[in-house]
Amino acid sequence: MERYSEKIMDHFKNPRNVGEMVNPSGVGNAGNPVCGDTMQLHIKVADNIIIDAKFKTFGCGAAIATSSMMTELIINRTIDEAMAVSNKTVADALGGLSQAKMHCSVLAEQALGSAIDDYHTRRKEADL
Ligand code: FES
Repeated sequence: MERYSEKIMDHFKNPRNVGEMVNPSGVGNAGNPVCGDTMQLHIKVADNIIIDAKFKTFGCGAAIATSSMMTELIINRTIDEAMAVSNKTVADALGGLSQAKMHCSVLAEQALGSAIDDYHTRRKEADL
């Protein structure tokens, strides 16, 4: 059976920033076609800074823990700083993931990229 670090277990059992928000600045979705796990991320942006993030993940323990940690890493960061947060950044912040579970952290990275893309699209539309 897969062994998880204490930090991963903490974020799995007590995930931070779970939920969704009213009037998000961007919404991102990601899914793993192999296992079927999915993640949705809402971000609220003000003055180019992510001031809040909420997620809903239907997935394994590693997917939930990495989603939770990712929200902690991006809140109060600029959009550019958040874009530099990779799945490896998240896994490292959790004390590392086994090779077999690294793919689970990709959900968080893809949902973040999708949410930031959606944010940029909404901004462009608002400027039209
Ligand atoms: Fe699907 Fe972990 S097994 S994301």
